[in-house]
Amino acid sequence: MNKRKITIFDTTLRDGEQSPGASLTIQEKLIVARQLARLGVDVIEAGFPIASDGDFEAVKLIAKNIKGPSICGLARANYKDIDRCWNAVKYSNKPRIHTFIATSKVHRDSKLHKSKEEVIAMAIKAIKRAKSYCNDVEFSPEDAARTSLDYMCDVVKAAINAGATVINIPDTVGYSEPKEFGERIKYLFEQVPEAKDIIISVHCHNDLGNAVANSLAAVKNGALQVEGCINGIGERAGNASLEEVVMNLVTRNDYFNVEIGIDTKELYKSSKLVSDLTGISIQRNKAIVGENAFAHEAGIHQHGVLSNKETYEIMTPESVGWKGTNIVIGKHSGKHAVAALLDEEGYSCTPEQTTQITAKVKELADKQKSVERDDVIAIIRDLVLEESEEEQRIQLVDFAVTTGSNFMPTASVKLMVDGEMKIEAGIGDGPIDAVSDAVWKIVDSSYKLEDYHLKAITGGTDALADVSIKLSDGKGNLFSGRAVNEDVIKASVLSIIKGINRAYNFKTKKHPQMG
Ligand code: KIV
Ligand code: ZN
Repeated sequence: MNKRKITIFDTTLRDGEQSPGASLTIQEKLIVARQLARLGVDVIEAGFPIASDGDFEAVKLIAKNIKGPSICGLARANYKDIDRCWNAVKYSNKPRIHTFIATSKVHRDSKLHKSKEEVIAMAIKAIKRAKSYCNDVEFSPEDAARTSLDYMCDVVKAAINAGATVINIPDTVGYSEPKEFGERIKYLFEQVPEAKDIIISVHCHNDLGNAVANSLAAVKNGALQVEGCINGIGERAGNASLEEVVMNLVTRNDYFNVEIGIDTKELYKSSKLVSDLTGISIQRNKAIVGENAFAHEAGIHQHGVLSNKETYEIMTPESVGWKGTNIVIGKHSGKHAVAALLDEEGYSCTPEQTTQITAKVKELADKQKSVERDDVIAIIRDLVLEESEEEQRIQLVDFAVTTGSNFMPTASVKLMVDGEMKIEAGIGDGPIDAVSDAVWKIVDSSYKLEDYHLKAITGGTDALADVSIKLSDGKGNLFSGRAVNEDVIKASVLSIIKGINRAYNFKTKKHPQMG
C-alpha cells in the first residue's frame, strides 16, 4: 500500500515566537528559517504580519530568501489582516495565507460576540479574499477541539466550498485527550466527504502534556499535516514538539506507515539553534534533543548498550544529528574552517558575513591562545544578529562606573529611548547592580532582574564575557537577553537592554488569540 505523505508545518517563528521571552529579531528569524529549510520542513509559518512592522518585515524577508518550503503568514478573518499577510508572503515562490476565526461557543459568545452563522459568513469572506491572492489557503476554526462536532463540520464544509486547500483543526487550549482527538478527526472525514480532497491538518497545544500524542492520534485517523514548533515552544505550555512528532513517525514507521520529507540528522542542530536564539533552554530529559536523551548512566544499561545498542536504544544519536565536533579554530584557521563550524551550529551565513566573522576570529586569536566554538558563536551574535534599528527602542549611548574597596559603587548611564536621550545615576552592591539601578530608573521600573549568568568564554583575564539575563515585567512574563563583550560591565548593560527591547516589542505586538 502507498504510504501517505505527511506535511510538516513549522510554526516556531509564529506560534513559538509568540511565547513571552522568545521574541526574535528579524535577522535571527532568517537564520532559523534557513535551518528549517535545511531540516526539510514543508511549510514555514514565518509570522503574523499584521502584528507589528517587525513581523511583517520578517515574513517578507523570509519569503524573499528561503526557497524550498512554502512560506506562510497568519491573518485573522478580515480584509486588513489578509491584505497585509499577502503583501509579505507574495515574495515567496510558494506563498500560503493562513486565516482563522474562533468557532467554540465560549469564543463566539465571549470574544467575538457573533452567532454561528455570522462566524461561517466571516470565514467564507476571508477565504475568498485570500483566494483572490493565492491558491494555497489554509483555514483554522480556532478552538476547534472545544467546538461542537456538528458545528465544526459545518464550518469545515463551508470553508472547503469557499476554496480552502488546507483545513487545520487546532486544539487551541490543549484540552483534548488523544483518543478523543483522533475520533474528532475520524468523525470529520465521515461527515465531510470533501475533506478527502484537501489536506486536513492538526495544531495541538500542550497544556495537559498531550500535544504530541494528540497530533499522532490525528495522523492515525487520516490527518495529512502536523503543525508544531522546534523544542515544543509556544503559547503557555507550548505547541507539539516537532522533533518528537517527526521521530515518532520515523522510529515507529511500522505503526504509522507514512512518509515525511525531514532530514532527521538536522534535528539536533535545529533544536540547539532555537534554544540559543530564544534563550529558552531545553530540559535535560527532553525526548530526542535533551542532554540526557541518549545518555546511558545506569551500569546495567551501559553493559547492555556496549554488547548490543538495541538493548536500550530505539534510535541512534546519529540519526538526530548528535555528534562531537572535530573542528578546532585557531590563529591560522581560514574562512572554510569558520564556515564549517558555523554550518555545524546551524548558522548559515553569507560569504560576506563569513569573511567578517573570520577577520574577528583572527583578531581574537591574536589576543587569546585558542578560540573556541562559543567564541565564534559570540562573534556571530554581535556581527550578524545585531537588532535592526526599529526593533531597538532602547540603545546604550554611554556609561561610567566608579567602584573601589571603600566606596559604594556608583554608575551613570546614558540611553537613547525612542529617539530621546536620557541619563540617570544609580548605586548598588556592586558595579553591575549600580548600572542596572540606573537603567531601571530610565525605563519602566516594574521590570526586575530575575536571573543573571556570567560566563567567561575561553579562560584568562582577557576572556570575552558572555552575559545572559532574564527579566520579568511584573505581569508574569519573562524576557531573556544575552550579550558578549570584552568588558563585563558593558556586556551586562547590553544584555539587560536586549531583554528590555524584547519586553517592549512583546508589549506593542498584537497577539492572535486576542481576537
Ligand atoms: O492555537 C491556535 O488555535 C492557533 C491558531 C491561530 C491556528 O494558533
Ligand atoms: Zn496555536
